[in-house]
Amino acid sequence: MSMGAIRLPKQVKICEVGPRDGLQNEAVTISTPDKVRYIDLLADAGFRDIEVTSFVSPKAVPQLADAQEVFAQFTRFPGCRYIALVPNERGLSRALAAGVGAIGVFTAASDSFTQRNIGMTIEESLTGFVPVVKRAKAEGIYVRASISTAFGCPFDGVVPVANVVRVAERLLALGVDELSVADTIGVGTPNQVFDVVTALTPHVPLERLGLHFHDTRGTALANIVAGLQTGVAIFDSSAGGLGGCPFAPGATGNVATEDVLYMLHGMGIETGVDLTKVRSASRFIGEKLGRRVVSRAFQALEAADRRAVAQA
Ligand code: COA
Ligand code: ZN
Repeated sequence: MSMGAIRLPKQVKICEVGPRDGLQNEAVTISTPDKVRYIDLLADAGFRDIEVTSFVSPKAVPQLADAQEVFAQFTRFPGCRYIALVPNERGLSRALAAGVGAIGVFTAASDSFTQRNIGMTIEESLTGFVPVVKRAKAEGIYVRASISTAFGCPFDGVVPVANVVRVAERLLALGVDELSVADTIGVGTPNQVFDVVTALTPHVPLERLGLHFHDTRGTALANIVAGLQTGVAIFDSSAGGLGGCPFAPGATGNVATEDVLYMLHGMGIETGVDLTKVRSASRFIGEKLGRRVVSRAFQALEAADRRAVAQA
């Protein structure tokens, strides 16, 4: 579609990160069968990519300690790529043993965050990924790579765009299939999205570039529109807007999938995802978490349905 003179992608891929980024920061422990049900509800909504869990240290992220059990139990929907995060070779071995077909490696654009998140400098993480990506590719595994704190760091503050570009180039040189550039703490603004994507596009093919926003300061949807205007067509979001990062103080949830779908579909952009089914998944996980999910579109659509029922 077009917005004025600007051409936007006609189709967008949403990578649903609720079961991983969403749940990892929730205090209530979700049982394995409930996680499996949540993943199945999401896959049934039509996502082609879902981040389902992480093979990280269970001490670092206790909520995802059951990664292996989760992987053994969810239904494989054809055409859906189920991604698991792995931080190191140990994680890759666990993931391969569980039958994982797609992994996500993750580093950051600022050293202080990388240190607190995975106990390494950026350089150490990139060196550590060499054997991980090599072995994964040899096994035919799809590799996604995330760059956290690309729009600002909770410890270092401003993150130079050049740092993001440098890390992106290194990751691509390793042979990763897709990059996800993340605003981990939700500080970014649309002009920054233009700056970051414009700096990346000479190095990263657009079809391999994704953006990952948190809505901590209410700028996530505006940032997605800025991303669309620069030609990006891959975005991460979490059903209901769950999430945050336990290693990033003050970070709130990912941009909510329902809000993103409502906006994109309204703009005539196809996602292949059924918003009504995503709402069912959010309703389910909200009940298990014992709270109302924060997605604005979810709340508005639920309220509209209740009014319709009351009037019938
Ligand atoms: N899976 C399970 N356990 C693992 C593991 C993995 N992939 N990697 C390491 N461990 C275990 C080690 O065996 C060790 O256990 P022990 O204390 O019982 O001996 C413990 O975790 C610490 O491992 P170590 O190698 O000393 O590294 P560390 O303490 O510096 O931790 C990471 C490094 C990367 C394992 C850890 O920081 C981590 O898992 N971070 C993930 C953070 C995350 O998921 N963030 C959100 C995504 S952005
Ligand atoms: Zn995130």
